Amino acid sequence: MKILIVGSGGREHAIAWAASKSPKADKIYCAPGNAGIAEFAECIDIGAMEFDKLAAFAKEKEIDLTIIGMDDPLVGGIVDVFEAEGLRVFGPRKNAAIIEGSKAFSKDLMKKYNIPTAAYETFTDPQKAVKYLETAKMPIVLKADGLALGKGVLICKDLEEAKAGVKTLMLDKQFGDAGNEIVIEEFMTGREVSVLAFCDGKTIKCMTSAQDHKRAKDGDQGLNTGGMGTFSPSPFYTKEVEEFCEKHIYQPTMDAMAAEGRPFTGILFTGLMLTEDGPKVLEYNARFGDPEAQVVLPRMKNDMIDVMEACIDGRLADVELEFEDNAAVCVVLASDGYPEKYDKGFEIKGLDTFKGKDGYYVFHAGTKFEDGKIVTNGGRVLGVVAKGDDLKAARANAYEATEWIDFANKYKRNDIGKAIDEA
Ligand code: AMP
Ligand code: GLY
Repeated sequence: MKILIVGSGGREHAIAWAASKSPKADKIYCAPGNAGIAEFAECIDIGAMEFDKLAAFAKEKEIDLTIIGMDDPLVGGIVDVFEAEGLRVFGPRKNAAIIEGSKAFSKDLMKKYNIPTAAYETFTDPQKAVKYLETAKMPIVLKADGLALGKGVLICKDLEEAKAGVKTLMLDKQFGDAGNEIVIEEFMTGREVSVLAFCDGKTIKCMTSAQDHKRAKDGDQGLNTGGMGTFSPSPFYTKEVEEFCEKHIYQPTMDAMAAEGRPFTGILFTGLMLTEDGPKVLEYNARFGDPEAQVVLPRMKNDMIDVMEACIDGRLADVELEFEDNAAVCVVLASDGYPEKYDKGFEIKGLDTFKGKDGYYVFHAGTKFEDGKIVTNGGRVLGVVAKGDDLKAARANAYEATEWIDFANKYKRNDIGKAIDEA
């Protein structure tokens, strides 16, 4: 098979790596890819939002399967463009990717189908939003309706902050049109868990759980980022929690989307908060998590391509997902200063140390080739992943492996997976 992967981050590197292990994969392309992906895929210089060019490329090269890694093209309707050209593609159509693209849509869906989530109201009028806030319980959470690189969520401790938040999102439009509508939602507390699942429009099969660390600094301080590290599985996602979610969240979500005429095919990512009142949905995404994919895919025993094909063909009910009975930890190596201001273009040394080491991976997030060297090219640079018999062992292995890599402004969190000590 010829496979095309669309995206350029650590998640797409993990997807490309998993695809490359499939006996079915003869040739892998990635658009636009990065320096790490280039090791086993041919990277092509077409952007993820250039749907027509991508479809033309897929036709010309007779690609058998295209996998969309990123949210923007999915929400923008890339799957519909490929399908209209008769191309085989893995991911939700535009009318289903809206589950990630519009928080107002996903909240209304959960309300209509009794899927547990935080209480909320939606607003298109900033004055009405402020009026509502005046009698609301604090702290409170404000969310831009649209895509905002995971940064359009404001947790406000008092009325003053909340009013300022309305201004930031709706008047100053810090996240552009994503803030035309906002969701104001009850503040929840508890452990967060990410659950990724394969979906074929009717059936949903969950992968092993993971937990992300979104803040830039140790102790969950600092600004929200795209994710500074992950571990899998989450010890807080017990059998009991899983059973509750299967009954009240995952299948009901699939059924709700189908009932709305928006059957969901692809990867559904459910962000859960394990509250005192039980698990509740924080958000849905229409794709693998980044960096969740980096810890989940290396633990998967199935051939990922087989499972994706079963999703496209509506045969997922026949597939049994299997994961290794171990753990994995991903520590992101970032450029110091991320997510604000940072320098790039520094040579990365030590990448070869990972070669041939079983259970250790280095997934590239922001790298490129320059004068025959691999240099830093983004805020998040690499995801260093290691497996271990349990979470503690995986964590020790991953942190050891972070020492193999060197670049000028290397920054990492030192407490990825620390929460597992409390489990
Ligand atoms: P989201 O993009 O909706 O997942 O939100 C980003 C992060 O904000 C989540 O991972 C949570 O840490 C936090 N968050 C979102 N919604 C809530 C909520 N209702 N209560 C508390 N924290 C929240
Ligand atoms: N790691 C969170 C996300 O991919 O949205």
